Amino acid sequence: MTAPFRILGIESTCDDTAAAVVQSGAPGARILSSVVVGQDSLHAAFGGVVPEIAARAHSERLEDVTRRALDEAGVGLDRIDAVAVSAGPGLIGGVLSGVMFAKGIAAGRDLPILGVNHLAGHALTPRLTDDAAFPYLMLLISGGHCQFLIAEDADRFRRLGGTIDDAPGEAFDKTARILGLGQPGGPAIEAAAGDGDPAAHRFPRPLLDREGCDLSFSGLKTAVLRARDQAMVEGTLARRDVSDIAASFQAAVTETLLEKSRRALAAYMALSPADPVFAVAGGVAANKAIRAGLETVSADAGVRFIAPPLALCTDNAAMIGWAGLELHRRGHRDTLDFAARPRWPLDATAGGMLGSGKKGPKA
Ligand code: KG4
Ligand code: ZN
Repeated sequence: MTAPFRILGIESTCDDTAAAVVQSGAPGARILSSVVVGQDSLHAAFGGVVPEIAARAHSERLEDVTRRALDEAGVGLDRIDAVAVSAGPGLIGGVLSGVMFAKGIAAGRDLPILGVNHLAGHALTPRLTDDAAFPYLMLLISGGHCQFLIAEDADRFRRLGGTIDDAPGEAFDKTARILGLGQPGGPAIEAAAGDGDPAAHRFPRPLLDREGCDLSFSGLKTAVLRARDQAMVEGTLARRDVSDIAASFQAAVTETLLEKSRRALAAYMALSPADPVFAVAGGVAANKAIRAGLETVSADAGVRFIAPPLALCTDNAAMIGWAGLELHRRGHRDTLDFAARPRWPLDATAGGMLGSGKKGPKA
């Protein structure tokens, strides 16, 4: 029996400071601890993530968060075998905080270090939770990401399409703001949509007329704004109108995501995968209507659907530790001079995405 290999994962690309200890095992790995400290209250007054505030909070909190992760795992740094850190894409200040911190630990302890792509962390999670076999289809939908990927190996991803402007989580957040609902907008819209009529407004289904899997959400927001202005009476919006607009917006996002998922599944199934899997990650995957729709679309295509538990769908460091383990097993190592990369596409051949999300430039 081989000795367990323990890796410390560090994540600080956006507004969550996270550290985790992941231990190798058969078949996947065991998460010994996963600590995530968010920054919602620091940014609430500004209506979005302020990069400078985020970077400062990360550098102030990384040490404490890491200490907690080690304590909860019941191990000291002397029992850690390698360090993996999100080296991008994301907000440069936060990424730098994490990378410098991780390099300090690796240098001080003479440990191997791996700079991991944050998106690879999300994209490899279905292997940690459900032992998904390559190749599998992945949909990343959050406040900062939106893309379809075929995961071919731990270091090889093919992008089938993505958003050309906003991420879906951003669209939920902006729509919630327009309707006077709280943040984060996703759960607020979902709750308001509960007793609304999804057919009350016919919002656009962007890019359905265009071939392929690209998506667009910024036009939808404009349509929501127009609907709200038309429904307002003397500056106030009736609860019924809020619910109807929320339900109609959610229906438009869901329908668009499902149609593009059908197309992505068709491209994926053309590869004849032995154990076909469609997996989802990101905060928007918490939406029940979207999740149920994705499940149905997968079943129709004869594909196993995987939605990891929410704590592993949203930003966390266990996924970074796990991605580090996968890369380490394949012989990857970085030297201490590797760079933080605010833009770092998973599929370098697919070119950069347009637009700029909650996490800064899109990958
Ligand atoms: O993955 P995540 O926690 O952070 C990043 O953006 O990386 O995702 C947060 C996003 C927010 O935009 C939030 O509004 C959205 O996910 N979200 C939802 C729901 N819960 C969270 N969107 C739709 N429906 C939900 N239930
Ligand atoms: Zn993320």
